[in-house]
Amino acid sequence: MDRLHHSLARCHDRRLCGILETAGRAAIAAGEILRSLYATPLKIRHKGRIDLVTEADLAAEQSIMRILHESHPEIAVLTEESAAAYQEISRNTGLVTPDTAPDDGPDHNGPLWVIDPLDGTTNFAHSYPWFAVSIGYMEEGRCMAGVIYNPVLEEFFCAVTGGGAWLNGQPIQVSHVKTLDQALLATGFPYTIAQQTDEVMALLKKMLPRAQGVRRAGAAALDLAYVACGRLDGFWEINLKPWDTAAGIALLNEAGGRVTDFSGGEFSPFKPEILSSNGRLHAAMQEIIASP
Ligand code: IPD
Ligand code: CA
Ligand code: CA
Repeated sequence: MDRLHHSLARCHDRRLCGILETAGRAAIAAGEILRSLYATPLKIRHKGRIDLVTEADLAAEQSIMRILHESHPEIAVLTEESAAAYQEISRNTGLVTPDTAPDDGPDHNGPLWVIDPLDGTTNFAHSYPWFAVSIGYMEEGRCMAGVIYNPVLEEFFCAVTGGGAWLNGQPIQVSHVKTLDQALLATGFPYTIAQQTDEVMALLKKMLPRAQGVRRAGAAALDLAYVACGRLDGFWEINLKPWDTAAGIALLNEAGGRVTDFSGGEFSPFKPEILSSNGRLHAAMQEIIASP
């Protein structure tokens, strides 16, 4: 909690500060749940051929929704696993569920939480210690605040528009790397990989020989947080969902990074393809993506 309050001490917009504080408490509590269930036998269900949901995803999500609702019952929720559980808590909140959200975004411009209770479920299910909780806050389609919490390393990333980006209470910024041959990049493979193998491999094949290294660790929210704090220099992926990116965008915006779609157009969490970087590498990465 100290690292949360340390970051909040520098936040001057009291309303957004309150939002960030609530999101931070919810993420840390969910992280405790994930830590307690990590490497224990879990009930696992398949949402798709390789897309899993574990009891840890669900327990973390319910805890997050309860905490968010207690402080901000007026804010709608878009959450990965279960909007229904939230509906039980509040019948009055304007919910946006994965099923009802149109591709170009929720049908209202009001305040919205965008939640991934466990980013890196496949890792978690295999006891591979690389996963996070991600909670973004949006207004009028813009990512205004975000928290990403890695409960294994106890790293708490947060950002609020106009208030900076922080890791465990210390300000963060993107790297200064200017050339791809000095850049450590990351990417991810979507659950639709069997249908999109060629597309994913074509991008990887173009990027690999140009970078110093390319990683695929399996938690998109952490990839974005790592670009924001300069451990990575760029990240791209196709077919992401709003809960994978909403909090990370808030971090990147405040840490001096750049986030666009593959053509350099404005990014929204409701766009599936993301290109993010320290800014200095953006044009080069975009050019590689566009090249034949
Ligand atoms: C997944 C992870 C992974 C990315 C996938 C995501 P989940 O999220 O972020 O890194 O490659 O596209 O769906 O399912 O573990 O929350
Ligand atoms: Ca995710
Ligand atoms: Ca998830």
